[in-house]
Amino acid sequence: MLDDYMNWERYILKTPADLPDRYNYGGRVYEISQAERLYVAGMGGSGVIGDLIRDLSMVRDWPFEVIVVKDYFFKGKSGLMIAVSYSGNTAETLTAARLALERGIPVIGITTGGKLAEMGVPIVKIPKASAPRAALPQMFTAALWILRRIYGVAFDLPEVLPYDQKLAERLERALSARPTVVAPSSMQGIAYRVKNEANENAKIDPSVEILPEAHHNWIEGARGPIVALTSPDIPPEHKLRVELTLQLIPGELFDVSMTVSGILTFLKHVGIATVRIAESRNVDPLKTPRIEELKRRLPQ
Ligand code: PA5
Repeated sequence: MLDDYMNWERYILKTPADLPDRYNYGGRVYEISQAERLYVAGMGGSGVIGDLIRDLSMVRDWPFEVIVVKDYFFKGKSGLMIAVSYSGNTAETLTAARLALERGIPVIGITTGGKLAEMGVPIVKIPKASAPRAALPQMFTAALWILRRIYGVAFDLPEVLPYDQKLAERLERALSARPTVVAPSSMQGIAYRVKNEANENAKIDPSVEILPEAHHNWIEGARGPIVALTSPDIPPEHKLRVELTLQLIPGELFDVSMTVSGILTFLKHVGIATVRIAESRNVDPLKTPRIEELKRRLPQ
């Protein structure tokens, strides 16, 4: 798994998504075209793709609204859906995708295989990794290529994601303290990914608070430590909220460039740090026995 994170650049997709303009599903024609509303469905390591696309669309002012779907239930009336599932077999994602199709909303899948690949909707097939969460570069860049093809959005495609040992060590120290990860809403996806990596790889339980909302409640009960996230690319109102938080609650600040390169570089270090915490705690970062057990106990 460490090897996957160390070599994440290998998994960045370099070629545009090959998608039809329209397709048939269940006797109905679905047009793939620019929609004002983009739903991105997925859970866990696949669900983070929607969160990151939402962050980028906010910071980069992309011309569509991103709605993240992390549930079975879906009540959207119009738009376009990208359904992301590494395994292709996640019940919530498959159900949301079926409901979208029933409502006449075109679905495009991103997966390595499974039921999603066999559903009959256009698919971007991605290479496998040691775990779904380790496959972030291929899932993220697959989604970005879909958005380039449909909306013409511009994004940078890094050749390398340079490893910075000091950053990995700082993250390892800060996350070992089970902090509250505090971020503005323009970096919400990054914050949840940090928490999720600490949960799944290191088996520890930091929490997340999102600004400005957390300045209206959490701040009164907070003791710290916090891991605060900021970026040169976010709105000044958000930067100020992060600065003010650190004036009141002890913690450490991490600066993330809100570009594809900046996001992947930071999250690569989060991955490495959480694998190292797992090793120091003598737990296996790769295995997620409770997640697997829950999936087994659910009806197929
Ligand atoms: O990282 C993981 O292993 C999990 O969070 C999975 O991504 C999650 O359970 C959803 O499965 P999938 O990504 O196969 O849809």
